Amino acid sequence: MCGIVGYLGYRDAYPILIKGLKRLEYRGYDSAGIAIHNGKEIHYYKKKGKVSDLESISDVAPHDGKMGIAHTRWATHGEPSDTNSHPHTSQSGNLFLIHNGIIENFHSIKEALLSRGFKFYSETDTEVLVNLIEDIQQAEDCSLEMAVRQALNQVIGAYAICVFDKRNPNEIVVAKMGSPLVIGLAPDEYFIASDATPFLEYTKKVVYLQDGEMALIKKGAPLVIKEISTNLPINPYIQQLQMDIEQIEKGGFEHFMLKEIYEQPRSIRDTLRGRLLPEQGLINMRGIDEYKEKFLNANRIIIVGCGTSWHAGLVGEYMIEDLVRIPVEVEYASEFRYRNPLINEKDVVIAISQSGETADTLAAVKLAKSMGATIFGICNVVGSSIARETHAGAYTHAGPEIGVASTKAFTAQITVLALMALKLGYMKGTLSESRYMRLLIELNSIPEKVEETLKCDPITRYLAEIYKDSNNALYLGRGYNFPVALEGALKLKEISYIHAEGYPAAEMKHGPIALIDENMPVIVIAPKSDQYDKIFSNVQEVKARKGKILAIVNHDDEDIASIADHIIEVPETENIFSPIINTIPLQLLSYHIALLRGCNVDQPRNLAKSVTVE
Ligand code: F6R
Repeated sequence: MCGIVGYLGYRDAYPILIKGLKRLEYRGYDSAGIAIHNGKEIHYYKKKGKVSDLESISDVAPHDGKMGIAHTRWATHGEPSDTNSHPHTSQSGNLFLIHNGIIENFHSIKEALLSRGFKFYSETDTEVLVNLIEDIQQAEDCSLEMAVRQALNQVIGAYAICVFDKRNPNEIVVAKMGSPLVIGLAPDEYFIASDATPFLEYTKKVVYLQDGEMALIKKGAPLVIKEISTNLPINPYIQQLQMDIEQIEKGGFEHFMLKEIYEQPRSIRDTLRGRLLPEQGLINMRGIDEYKEKFLNANRIIIVGCGTSWHAGLVGEYMIEDLVRIPVEVEYASEFRYRNPLINEKDVVIAISQSGETADTLAAVKLAKSMGATIFGICNVVGSSIARETHAGAYTHAGPEIGVASTKAFTAQITVLALMALKLGYMKGTLSESRYMRLLIELNSIPEKVEETLKCDPITRYLAEIYKDSNNALYLGRGYNFPVALEGALKLKEISYIHAEGYPAAEMKHGPIALIDENMPVIVIAPKSDQYDKIFSNVQEVKARKGKILAIVNHDDEDIASIADHIIEVPETENIFSPIINTIPLQLLSYHIALLRGCNVDQPRNLAKSVTVE
């Protein structure tokens, strides 16, 4: 978590750094700080709260200078406060450092530094690191680069750091292990950030630093990259980004979340583009072709992910078992990695992650890989850590997702899983030609159906008024739409702070039914399917206990529509693709409820977009 930005060049650093922090605020937003060097002195400000709170003090104070670093924080060690905010300085006041990650052995290092007379003012692991660097610099009388390298060789944990010495306004040292860091290159200037969004309008030429690498960024000098453990030089691998700045602006919508909900016809189309060729009866997925034997001969497929990505994994389980007839297990990455799982080379692990940086998912991937499994990634962020760690994969081409609550990434993940299940099922012969062709054609029509589904926005806004003051909500679904119930509940709780639970509809009888009374909204996902009659019975059970029913149904529904208090109508599709359609009204409902409750939709409290700590 946390966002870091740095700049060294000929422009004023302040506007670049502040704008960069705002673009990275999705990574954490409980405090922010900035340090700018103008060649003579440092302008240094830190503030608990959002970047706008920092601006309220830094805008009206001196902030000139062509080199600087800035940070937006998601607290790990120490509560959000001015003191715990980054940058942190060393005891002498010479070094300024920002950090994203966790130094796990900071306690023992701190003890050693305390015994040598160092004093600490914050509760952070970062202040320990900057003082460790200073301690080495003083003891060895060495360069900043050398001191950073030696310090990092003592550190256990994850980091992306940027550090400078105020006695040298022309140099920044950066390093990475486990947390993302990208360097933007332009003539006579360098940009540094947790992802490329802060500097896209200046350059698209980037170097993604790899784990265990550090870089020396010097004014007027070429970029130098070295391996931290050996000090050996590494040739920078320069990439050209394809992303546009328009893709990360709000484009006229009030919030990123709403924009991203509305982008779904496009993001699904982009995810299908070049892969789904219904006229030719083909699905192109190079990663699957390459690992065809591994997939088709797998003993089982294990899907790992967290949060919304885990929900997409559940949909994938239903799809793959249905169409490919290979056993699938879906696991929370955090549980998988620590439960001593049984994995071997006959297993295929699918890792799902929007950011591609989620620490638990990354660790699960590394573990499964070390045990011989084949790893396939479904990531949104190109070049992210998980994408790089996998043997093969398929990107969800959803574009940057900035709203903290995941929306378009979820439907794009399901789209990739659908492509995979169809392709594998056809290759394996478990899916008949006629069903395969029918599903291909239907999948091709999904972007259009999503567009049509978005027309339910006004009714969800109206219903949000009715449900906004609820304290609880129950979401029920069966089969393919059970994960949709989980996702609907997660969306509501994370942005509106209403307690919500998702359940398989039939499980309601085994406990949650006790909660149902006239104050309990029950949101039922009930499209036409072979389980429609079953869910109709579940709805009647709720009705008999006076629960307030909001049902997501298909356009021509009569039975459930006749007993529900409210309905939202959505287009009918094949059951296996229905999670994509049925999720849309639930995203919109959560959005409008959160808005009416005065919540910060794009940056809900306590959350961050990219969870790079375990
Ligand atoms: C919920 C949400 C989170 C993420 C989870 C995994 O709206 O966004 O639950 O899905 O933190 O993140 P990724 O997909 O980046 O691994």
